[in-house]
Amino acid sequence: MIRLDHLTYDYDSGKRALDDVSLAISDGERIAVMGANGSGKSTLARIIAGLITPTRGALKLNRSAGTPPKIGILFQDPDNQMVASVLENEIAFALENQAMPMTAMEPLVLETLTRFGIEHLRARLTTELSGGEKQRVALASVMISSPDILILDEPDSFLDDNGKAMLGRELERLHDEQPSLIEIRITQYPEVARGYPRLVVFAEGRVVADHEPTRVFANVDFCDKAGLSYRVPELPESSKRLLAVRRPASSGPRSLEMKSVTFEYLEDKLVIDDIDLIWNRGETIGISGESGSGKTTLGLLLSGLLTPTRGELLFYDAENRLLGMTVRPGWVVGAFQQPERQFFLPTCREEIAFGPKNFGQKLSDDQISSYLELVGLNPHEFLLRDPFSLSMGEKRRLAFAAILSLGPSFILFDEPTCGLDPEGVGRFVSLTRALKQAGLGQAIISHDQPLLKATSDRILSLDDRKDLAPA
Ligand SMILES: Nc1ncnc2c1ncn2[C@@H]1O[C@H](COP(=O)(O)OP(=O)(O)OP(=O)(O)O)[C@@H](O)[C@H]1O
Ligand SMILES: [Mg+2]
Repeated sequence: MIRLDHLTYDYDSGKRALDDVSLAISDGERIAVMGANGSGKSTLARIIAGLITPTRGALKLNRSAGTPPKIGILFQDPDNQMVASVLENEIAFALENQAMPMTAMEPLVLETLTRFGIEHLRARLTTELSGGEKQRVALASVMISSPDILILDEPDSFLDDNGKAMLGRELERLHDEQPSLIEIRITQYPEVARGYPRLVVFAEGRVVADHEPTRVFANVDFCDKAGLSYRVPELPESSKRLLAVRRPASSGPRSLEMKSVTFEYLEDKLVIDDIDLIWNRGETIGISGESGSGKTTLGLLLSGLLTPTRGELLFYDAENRLLGMTVRPGWVVGAFQQPERQFFLPTCREEIAFGPKNFGQKLSDDQISSYLELVGLNPHEFLLRDPFSLSMGEKRRLAFAAILSLGPSFILFDEPTCGLDPEGVGRFVSLTRALKQAGLGQAIISHDQPLLKATSDRILSLDDRKDLAPA
């Protein structure tokens, strides 16, 4: 069992992430953990996994057998998990640590690869996987070692529907094989939490609810306050003005055309196969597709970060005159799947100011604060924070602010709602509506169909390569 007694955790910066938390979890229990971005969920996961030690209070782990429990943790960012360069070795790593003989290891690795639907990727480099594929590998490598305590920090954020079904099946299997397994599942999806007998909700580092999920969700006021309600708010006028202040429309393109674009990372392995696409300003295109179907690659091509193997990218002005065949800085910007990869400055303030500065535009602290407010980050707390010290959802929000401050003509969002709490998802939807009104072209890559339907004018599916109109 797991016991936390009046446990407090302060990060080195002084930020209190857990505040006097007491919690007991018995062997065999399955619990869901929810809470707004920055409420302390991942910190709790790290504490229980023994990766950080409490500032005050105690953590006790006991097992009826008397030996210390084996703990498996899946990090929120699957990149933090990977140790081996080849996928197969990544899966075998936990078994090697248990000194399992080669003869026993091989069949187990093979079986696991098949169960998690990644056998065709076994010889791939772990750095060359899509987000969803990485998450499958990370899950397989955690679950293969049959842990006594399994901590899953938003394990499905990058998974498509097949991946989610696979995760459900594998969890069930694990519980059947090992009834004393403790499972702690951090999630932002109420429908996932409803599948658990117990839901613990965090707010500002404290436990604010610990009940059956139905009882928690029945209290609407409570859910609103805890950031668990999805609602599309009307943006304040000041925010709309902020978004409408763009660089002169004449400087950017009116539309973008992809003409017979093909792309391959390795020879003879087509990832993007002959795509034609016209993307106008003021239009929002949804891009869907299974894990590994090439969504992110298409996004990288659209934003000019990859060059097509064949075909071309053309830009036109308002009179439909050709502007050029390469993306110029500021025309198309992308908010990518893993936001922290875009950060490189010591404070959130500099991160937001950097882009405009390159265009000779100096943002005042007031303007920078407005961008933070727009994405739901309190400027007093975040202006001077180190971007790398933010929680996952906070990083995602900062990445939006940094991109919006550039005032682009076209903007591409790759899995924008991964890691956002329900409040953040609602805020994102209203943000895209305001950006559309302000005349931006938007492309939204997501495996979340309801999100695409709520935001997009049309949806391009990379699975069957047909344009679908939103229902
Ligand atoms: N390395 C760090 N240094 C300083 N502060 C941190 C660090 N990591 C997290 N924090 C802060 O501690 C608080 C809790 O962070 P934590 O990552 O536990 O939140 P979370 O509930 O997992 O959020 P999310 O839903 O965004 O994943 C947040 O305010 C965060 O900004
Ligand atoms: Mg987290």
